[in-house]
Amino acid sequence: MQINITPSHTSRISEVDFFNLAFGREFTDHMLICDCIDGQWQTPEILPFGTISFSPGLSALHYGQSLFEGMKAHKDADDKAWLFRPLDNWRRLNISATRLCMAEVPEDIFMEGLKKLITMEKAWIPTHDGSALYVRPFLFATDDCIGVRPSANYRYMVICCPVNPFYTKPLRIKAEDKYVRAVEGGVGYAKAAGNYAGAMLPTREAQEQGFDQIMWLDGREKKYIEESGTMNLFFVIDGKLITPELSRTILDGFTRASIIQLAKDNGIPVEERKISIDEITALHQEGKLTEAFGTGTAATVSHVVAFNYRNVEYSLLPVEQRTVSTLLANALNDIKTFKAPDKHGWMVMAG
Ligand code: COI
Repeated sequence: MQINITPSHTSRISEVDFFNLAFGREFTDHMLICDCIDGQWQTPEILPFGTISFSPGLSALHYGQSLFEGMKAHKDADDKAWLFRPLDNWRRLNISATRLCMAEVPEDIFMEGLKKLITMEKAWIPTHDGSALYVRPFLFATDDCIGVRPSANYRYMVICCPVNPFYTKPLRIKAEDKYVRAVEGGVGYAKAAGNYAGAMLPTREAQEQGFDQIMWLDGREKKYIEESGTMNLFFVIDGKLITPELSRTILDGFTRASIIQLAKDNGIPVEERKISIDEITALHQEGKLTEAFGTGTAATVSHVVAFNYRNVEYSLLPVEQRTVSTLLANALNDIKTFKAPDKHGWMVMAG
């Protein structure tokens, strides 16, 4: 596939302190752009990273036809770059696009564009513990029109940031019983930019109350646990791994899917089912709920050390005493960092 490339003549890489990175603030030297004009995808371009310019009538700004994906690239000892499950990102991007009535991105533009860009940015992939190159594909509506209808034109882009762990400490999360994230029939399963906008006020309020993140409950009864901000959630109950079953109100995370597979590989029983907040608090009181953690591309596996529901705090095992979550976090990390064989074929060579 043809990709037009305009390389950057200078690199910012020597200005970046890879050990002190605020998530998402340092961008690599290049970006990928591909426009869809009246249903026709144009030739992708890789350009020096920089500003883009649009009319104030840009429809994405007014009606929110905007979505994104997140993935991570790692580098092996032979200096080869690898992406974790990128085809799953491609599929989910188009599931989100369909729900938001946007153009779907063809597989070759997604995969070939990523591979070319990652190859060009290989020097930016950090290799120290917990680090990665975070890759952000996104798609937005580009009609210059504030009429309320689906845009005829779209822009697909990919930008990249070297990152360290997203959460730097174990999390205290608050079960949210005032605001909701998603309801049946809505866009909860899509990686719609607006889902993240809607979570900002509740998250800020939770943070002002001393919590790190929110544990979302279902939008109808505020009874069943759904997910956390930026993560799917898992609980260890009596040695079993339990996670809310997928639905149209939960994001289908690939770290979630990978952890479920790794648990099965390691003989840990897994249940994907509805879990109510009352069940969780009761199991905690019986001493059966020991560990909890969140999973996500940015968050990888992040320990939850306590959750709070209606001002009651439920503390879980200290991280050093956790067997199940530590085993699973290490198993996943070992695959991504080439210390363990990739039996499931999750790693895709990018360049
Ligand atoms: C990701 O894990 O890639 C996410 O989508 C979370 C992001 C909002 C930082």
